[in-house]
Amino acid sequence: MGFGIWNLHKLIIFALVNTHLIQQYLRYYARARTRYRVHSPFVFELVNEVLEDERYFYVFEDIERLRVNLSRDKRMLEVTDLGAGSHTTKSNQRSVQSIARSAVTPSRYTQFLFSLVHYLKPKTLLEMGTSLGISTLYQAKADGRAQVITLEGCPEIAAIAQENFKRLKANNIELMTGDFSNTLPQALSKMQRIDYVFFDGNHRKMATLNYFHQALKYAHEGSVFVFDDIYWSEEMMEAWEEIKAHPQVTLTIDIFYMGIVFFRKEQVTKEHFTLIDSWKKPWSMGFFN
Ligand SMILES: C[S@@+](CC[C@H](N)C(=O)[O-])C[C@H]1O[C@@H](n2cnc3c(N)ncnc32)[C@H](O)[C@@H]1O
Repeated sequence: MGFGIWNLHKLIIFALVNTHLIQQYLRYYARARTRYRVHSPFVFELVNEVLEDERYFYVFEDIERLRVNLSRDKRMLEVTDLGAGSHTTKSNQRSVQSIARSAVTPSRYTQFLFSLVHYLKPKTLLEMGTSLGISTLYQAKADGRAQVITLEGCPEIAAIAQENFKRLKANNIELMTGDFSNTLPQALSKMQRIDYVFFDGNHRKMATLNYFHQALKYAHEGSVFVFDDIYWSEEMMEAWEEIKAHPQVTLTIDIFYMGIVFFRKEQVTKEHFTLIDSWKKPWSMGFFN
């Protein structure tokens, strides 16, 4: 009985804290299409090969084991918060455990990033927001030949990420520590031509748009940009709408947790897709037609 009330209490707190996200998810769900309603051959193939990719690679096990170890790691870090902060804590002292549990992209989506890199084979990858290195490892391990640069502002978090790269022998990752305002221009001029960017750092509107415009100067028609947490706040939703409207953007895919941006010139008319896994809308598989 006591246990039930406690769970209900946690559920109510969760719902109150996440009201914005719950509302946005319901709207997303109502308009999202499954692959059975996609007519663009490029997007259809991408959905089959990436979004609905059910393959499990050996490396997932290594990275997920590392995630479990980090989520039990009680070491305390002095955190330099340079971004829009966190929905859950404002303290400057944080344990590795709490970062691993709240600031790291969930496995379902890091595995989506792995599939995306595995399928698109970008040669140069940039990640803004390393944290403990979990998403970096997924992207770097998807293609060991790719050059990966990842940027992190907090030196103590960056040191843990560096340990993790060494432990998993990810030799294609270069970690640059410092505020994005310094490290982003350095990374871009080092890479020159940028094939892929994962934006997962500062979740403020102006900062996100500023990073987008800086990276765009080094992008080409085959580049792909991935934005994390596009529904995280009203600000992030506004940033996402401005990115979609940019004249160089020809195709976007919204999968709720992330937004993917393409610049393909073959795409004559600009298109925006909102996509969902088919099992989440089973009636759209055609069983009931
Ligand atoms: C959400 S976490 C990244 C999670 C990581 N991509 C993953 O999924 O494993 C965002 C990180 O960006 C860093 N960050 C935020 N704003 C920054 C800034 N202006 N300069 C440098 N780093 C920043 C934070 O310190 C934090 O570790």
